[in-house]
Amino acid sequence: MGADVLLGLQWGDEGKGKIVDVLTPDYDIIARFQGGPNAGHTLEFEGIKHVLHTIPSGIFRNNVVNIIGNGVVIDPIILKKEIEELEKLNVDVVQKLFISKKAHLILPTHKLLDKASEKAKGKRKIGSTLKGIGPTYMDKTGRNGLRIGDISSQNFKTRFERLREKHFQLLDEIDNDYNNLEVDFLSSIEFLKRFQHIDSEHYLNNAIKEGKKVLAEGAQGTLLDIDFGTYPFVTSSNTISAGTCTGMGIAPNKLERIIGIFKAYCTRVGSGPFPTELSDDVGTKMRDIGHEYGATTGRERRCGWLDLPALKYSIMINGVTELCMMKADVLDSFDEIQVCTHYQVGEEKFNYFPFEISEKTKPVYRNFQGWNTDITKLKDKDNLPLALLNYIQFLEEELEVPIKIISVGPNRSETIVR
Ligand code: GDP
Ligand code: IMO
Ligand code: MG
Repeated sequence: MGADVLLGLQWGDEGKGKIVDVLTPDYDIIARFQGGPNAGHTLEFEGIKHVLHTIPSGIFRNNVVNIIGNGVVIDPIILKKEIEELEKLNVDVVQKLFISKKAHLILPTHKLLDKASEKAKGKRKIGSTLKGIGPTYMDKTGRNGLRIGDISSQNFKTRFERLREKHFQLLDEIDNDYNNLEVDFLSSIEFLKRFQHIDSEHYLNNAIKEGKKVLAEGAQGTLLDIDFGTYPFVTSSNTISAGTCTGMGIAPNKLERIIGIFKAYCTRVGSGPFPTELSDDVGTKMRDIGHEYGATTGRERRCGWLDLPALKYSIMINGVTELCMMKADVLDSFDEIQVCTHYQVGEEKFNYFPFEISEKTKPVYRNFQGWNTDITKLKDKDNLPLALLNYIQFLEEELEVPIKIISVGPNRSETIVR
């Protein structure tokens, strides 16, 4: 027995929350291993639409433990709000949520530093969610950070103030409402003391030894990975399967299924290269039908066709063993569907994901006939329209990995297993 991983293969927002929620009944433990409240994972079922930022997407199911792993960065203010929202829905968070003592804390000043960094970059800004992710991971690797396990220590306040002062020295200006933010932060820290803080690496490894089933839930996507994404337009953590090992303390030989999830097209929110981006009516149609607006920031998501060189790269980096294709229904009314099979720069045509992607990197497309059918009510794999089956077959041949789930709507029930 080991752990399975579910992660995004594009630039995030592939639908990870939905599929983790769908798969949770097969697992005993769901764990987040990286990222923080920059994530927004949407779950829809039984009339509820809920967005989770820090808490794993198994939280609504019974008899499942949800763990925020050591690789995650936690904003106590946001986590408190998240918990309160769930408690309103009668979810017993105290029982179901465990937090790693080694998870790092996002301080109010980390958020100010994030904002200052983006401002200083001007036009070259990353398009960060401004949740303080980058500065918190910088303090982690810089060995200055504060962790969940520190909040019960006698000198927590002193250490907090020391780090805050260090940040103040880096900032040109401090927001007027900073004091309120700090009061909120400290009271949220008190609130979090009610929850179970654990040595999650021991907990998880013992659970695996006992034969329990663990699913690791990725945040962001492979193309936002700090090492392999479209640097510098990435997030500050390892979003890939290897991130599970460092972000949960699970050894590589304990990983089993690596479930990669992608949209039938592509989206990106924030700045950075996006070779198949559509700045025309087709892109706008995708955004409108797919409701492509950020679950965390509400920003418009940039939309474009599926990019196979990028997808193959993500499959390689993660060692993906099976795929889920999301939001196929968004393409229901498209007469023609395009897939990028290669890139072209000048006369040179190639099919690998290159070091540098510039405006000169042009996608080369293959066209497919659209299925022009409403697939949202379909329940059975045998009823999928032929044109969609052709599209799926082509992708499986190109990607050399089976597509096991086709998602045809945001609801838990709108899921076809093949
Ligand atoms: P995540 O960050 O990967 O969990 O994805 P988000 O929740 O940020 O964005 C995915 C969006 O697509 C959410 O609004 C989901 O409710 C929605 N969604 C998920 N799967 C499907 C699908 O198959 N079809 C449609 N139309 N929407 C979907
Ligand atoms: P989920 O888990 C989509 C993007 C931001 C920005 C870049 C860096 O919902 O898929 P950061 O706040 O990390 O400094 O932002 O990464 N980004 C995401 N895009 N989905 C996410 O999470 C994202 N988390 C960060 O838009 O371009
Ligand atoms: Mg999201």
